[in-house]
Amino acid sequence: MKRITGQLLHYSDDPHSQGGAAIHHVEAGAIVIGEDGRIAWSGEAARLPRQYHTLESVDYGDKLILPGFIDAHLHFPQYRMLAAYGKDLLDWLNRYTFIEEQRYGDPAIAAPAASAFLDELLRNGITSCLAFSTIHPSALDCLFEEAGRRNMAIASGKTLMDCNAPDGLLDSAQSAYDDSTALIGKWHGRKRLRYAISPRFAVTSSEAQLQAAGTLARENPGLLIQTHLSENKSEIEFVASRFAWSKDYTDVYDRYGLLTETALFAHGIHLSGRELARLSEAGSAVVHCPTSNNFLGSGLFRLRHTTTGSAPVRVGVGCDIGGGMSYSMFDTLRDAYTVSQLVGSRISAHEAFYRATLGNARLLGFDADAGTLEAGKYADLTVLDPAATPLMAERHALSNDLHDILFALMILGDDRAVTETYVAGAPLKPQT
Ligand code: GUN
Ligand code: ZN
Repeated sequence: MKRITGQLLHYSDDPHSQGGAAIHHVEAGAIVIGEDGRIAWSGEAARLPRQYHTLESVDYGDKLILPGFIDAHLHFPQYRMLAAYGKDLLDWLNRYTFIEEQRYGDPAIAAPAASAFLDELLRNGITSCLAFSTIHPSALDCLFEEAGRRNMAIASGKTLMDCNAPDGLLDSAQSAYDDSTALIGKWHGRKRLRYAISPRFAVTSSEAQLQAAGTLARENPGLLIQTHLSENKSEIEFVASRFAWSKDYTDVYDRYGLLTETALFAHGIHLSGRELARLSEAGSAVVHCPTSNNFLGSGLFRLRHTTTGSAPVRVGVGCDIGGGMSYSMFDTLRDAYTVSQLVGSRISAHEAFYRATLGNARLLGFDADAGTLEAGKYADLTVLDPAATPLMAERHALSNDLHDILFALMILGDDRAVTETYVAGAPLKPQT
């Protein structure tokens, strides 16, 4: 067992809708980590039970200890394929992404990539994610093997795509079903790993394959489903022409039974009122990927428009590497903030940090074991330094309340502000 001390911060609900009672801040706090990697005790250091007084301790002083960040949408095989100059989504996919992803059929490429990808997450305080892989079962094996070695709670799945992409990146409706079924049996529930049924998007799946995805969803109730939806205007037009019978883009997925309570749809920028109402009714979620939306010029996501009103839809946040510009959760939240300003509904730092922790944990079904600092959960933690650089220290000196500290951190922070990242109690931030 061991003890760490510092300022503790976590959320028990969305502070935007639930107010200050959802914010749990302890200025001089302590967390006791058990041999099982779970939090044995957390609270005010002054109230630390006597039996923990003699434990070996790491003191983080004034630094903030939060639940590890959780990213709800990114692409493992694009781990190094970011910052690629392209016109828009479909051009960028064809020109770079589909080329890079074909390499992942070779485990000699995918295995070191999995390690580098997870290192990059941990460098940025991210302890869990829902990630896309490629069509290759062996690439998913590489990702899950490496995540399992690190005890990380990672959700992913073999990508389903059988048309409108290079031959080297196509499966078939039948092989998608067969491979996914075998991989679910092999990985789902092993260690902290979860399988996600992963049709890439309606552009690259035939009707037969979407049908197969729906069959997988029916046969495996409760499994996560991830795909892309309504990201880019040309994409939406293409989907409308391919599926002429559909009411809209959402209706395509709906037809095949993919709107479930455990389905996450990346982007969802241009959804109509009908689509939002249907997603709300189904209990599905949308993942806001602001750095990607800005990078690819996809559009401005209206967070409040999506989360409130007569048809509220749950919203997560993700970096969407490599459409996204950065692994840093600070950058994702900073762009979520700037986009919220542009659409006229400013989000607070508390709401942003909630979405990056418990909010995403709930959407990914990881909240029983992660997302807060409560006893019993895994000690997946990120230790943040709001004064990590000379300029940040100067700005920090001006802060006079918790919100101001968090806001400056999210606007100015990068991986230098992540002092340590704990996964199931083990300090795993790469040192280089
Ligand atoms: N839509 C389908 N595939 C992708 C992808 O790899 N990245 C993004 N941003 N959108 C997609
Ligand atoms: Zn994506």
